[in-house]
Amino acid sequence: MEPVRVGICGLGTVGAGTFNVLMRNAVDIERRAGRPLVIEQVAARRDNPQCDLTGIPVTADVFDVVRNPRIDVVVELIGGYETARELVLEAIHNGKHVVTANKALIAVHGNEIFRAAADKGVIVAFEAAVAGGIPVIKSLREGLGANRIQWVAGIINGTGNYILTHMRDQGRSFDDMLSEAQALGYAEADPTFDVEGIDAAHKLTILASIAYGVPLQFERAYTEGISRITFDDVAQADSLGYIIKHLGISRRTEEGVELRVHPALIPKERLLANVHGVKNAIEVMGDAVGPTLYYGAGAGAEPTASAVVADLLDVARDMATHHDYRTPYLAFSGIVEGDNSL
Ligand code: HSE
Repeated sequence: MEPVRVGICGLGTVGAGTFNVLMRNAVDIERRAGRPLVIEQVAARRDNPQCDLTGIPVTADVFDVVRNPRIDVVVELIGGYETARELVLEAIHNGKHVVTANKALIAVHGNEIFRAAADKGVIVAFEAAVAGGIPVIKSLREGLGANRIQWVAGIINGTGNYILTHMRDQGRSFDDMLSEAQALGYAEADPTFDVEGIDAAHKLTILASIAYGVPLQFERAYTEGISRITFDDVAQADSLGYIIKHLGISRRTEEGVELRVHPALIPKERLLANVHGVKNAIEVMGDAVGPTLYYGAGAGAEPTASAVVADLLDVARDMATHHDYRTPYLAFSGIVEGDNSL
């Protein structure tokens, strides 16, 4: 069977995780995809000592990957907005499928990207953009496909949860915990995205778009982070029987979709109060299924790579059947961008 030829753009935390998972689990992945997934080229500005690139063509220019005629699928792991947008749009223009972990890109430029992908007939998959390794996009799109989703709520930033958890259980300072989350590769390149709620708002925007079938509308999200929370706040909440968690919440309302991220006091016995460290947890309420819960590592190299590689497997299967049900249907359904109706 012809291999699927993959080009990886970016060899940072998630890029290295993706490279290593693809290499290590190649036999199982081939069995599941029905064909081998071969890394055709990697774009990296510098070596990552975690990866053995022997025999893999490496370039310093990410645009070499999207212009490489041998590559079927571009994996965008450079992060950020503008270069990533150009890269992905050029990949689509060149007829390549795209897998991305970039929530900022999808939340802000997703409507444009999905439309371009639909016009070109290529797939854009982005499971890794939300909640690291937890397959919540797939669950919303496929497992809960029969439901009218009523609300989605949860902890969707691993760095923030890591900071809040250890401020409480180790009495450590906010800055100390943020540095540790950065060292562990959990935080964004600009960690203000984590601590000011922007990263969670990106993810909530994406979840809501899939859950309710509306265009992405990041600019409508109410966004508040955890940077003003002190150890005294955490201790006081504790003495009153609560734990402070940073939540992303969206629900259907008569006026349209509500999107908000902010810290909240959760009673200690509630499920979300017991999600610790880098873990994320998302509750989804469907009209048929009732409440459901998705839990796991929300950040980190291999948990996020798990979602990237799962998308690659799906793309490989879709390529075989010439069928795409991953790129959100909004792009083809005539829903106007900015329309918030349900
Ligand atoms: N900085 C993000 C987080 C990475 O901590 O959740 C995963 O999206």
